[in-house]
Amino acid sequence: MKPFEIADGIYNVGVEDWNIRDFHGYSTNNGTTYNAFLIIDEKITLIDTVKKEFSSQLLNNISQIIDPKKIDYVISNHTEMDHSGSLPVVMHAIGEDKPVYCSKMGMKNLPLHFSREFNYKPVSTGEELSIGKRTLTFLETKMIHWPDSMFTYVKEDGILFSSDGFGQHYAGPEKFDDQIGEKIFIHAKKYYANILLLYSDKIQKLIGDVISMGLDIKTICPDHGIIWRKNPSSIINAYVEWTKQKSEKKAVVVYDSMWHSTELMAEMIVDGIANEGVEARPMNLRNWHRSDVMTAVMDAGAVVVGSPTLNNNIYPTVIDFLTYMKGLKPKDKIGAAFGSFGWSGESVKQINQELESMKFDIIDPGVKIKYIPDQDGLNSCFELGKKIGKAIINKNI
Ligand code: FEO
Repeated sequence: MKPFEIADGIYNVGVEDWNIRDFHGYSTNNGTTYNAFLIIDEKITLIDTVKKEFSSQLLNNISQIIDPKKIDYVISNHTEMDHSGSLPVVMHAIGEDKPVYCSKMGMKNLPLHFSREFNYKPVSTGEELSIGKRTLTFLETKMIHWPDSMFTYVKEDGILFSSDGFGQHYAGPEKFDDQIGEKIFIHAKKYYANILLLYSDKIQKLIGDVISMGLDIKTICPDHGIIWRKNPSSIINAYVEWTKQKSEKKAVVVYDSMWHSTELMAEMIVDGIANEGVEARPMNLRNWHRSDVMTAVMDAGAVVVGSPTLNNNIYPTVIDFLTYMKGLKPKDKIGAAFGSFGWSGESVKQINQELESMKFDIIDPGVKIKYIPDQDGLNSCFELGKKIGKAIINKNI
């Protein structure tokens, strides 16, 4: 990515990762970007770095604007290595004694990633750093996404450098929200569902804190994806809604199948739900990545999970998904289970246990069918679907 100017003297010197398709278990079908920001002022400041594989590109981008040796300060908003991985290379290039400003947790976590110590300067919420004509204000944002995360705000330009917050795993020709329009929200929503959902309460509080601080935010620069310059409030408002974890009148029927029996059951359950006027979609884990299913789960009223029994257990792709979903802590869902079996048939009971552990409202013991569903079996699935559809409607979602 060629460096580009965001405001007078402020550049994105980050890189595109066009080819990444798996970001620690999240499918990144459009690649991603690792944004890093260079501020030219009396004290030249670099905010964040990029994944270490891209360190030469980062230095090359910086060199197109200034000699990297002229950088005076580095701000590390987040320790995760997609943003700090190039820190050793950058420090080597600019001078290893230059200060690296980070949160107190960053000060603990950064040294655990590198064999060398740098000149870490811990900062707290509200602390300011003058870099000449501009003043940086720091805001700790614990768990958005790691304990060390923080935002950096430049009041003179109204720019919030928000690290993972408000990001999207998207690499494309567009660099700003006004260039891509509404299409970016599908990527922002997937990012929220798969990275931040479990921190919804903290994000809600953070947004409240930002509002009460009265920050005038004209531009939001996340470390991934496009920059919000035309309408930064659109992504803030979307976050406000997503943190509420409100469900829509829809259900996700997620499953895997060995010999199509659980698949037939899934499709009948979907028909039963649809019969009640509720939108439902079957999502076969052979065809849908867990992170896409999770995006659909985020605002679904019900999650219905199907698995054949394989060697007395839930099928591996299904337990993978259940484990993934459990970690993201979706709230206030109706749950149900189904599955085909040959002789022992433990999967439905085991799925129910998993859903109970996620505090889902289990509205039915579920349907299990030996081998291939006959018409009675299919009718049971249809009835289960109707019951789920009615429960979603009665829940007054
Ligand atoms: Fe983009 Fe939590 O790192």
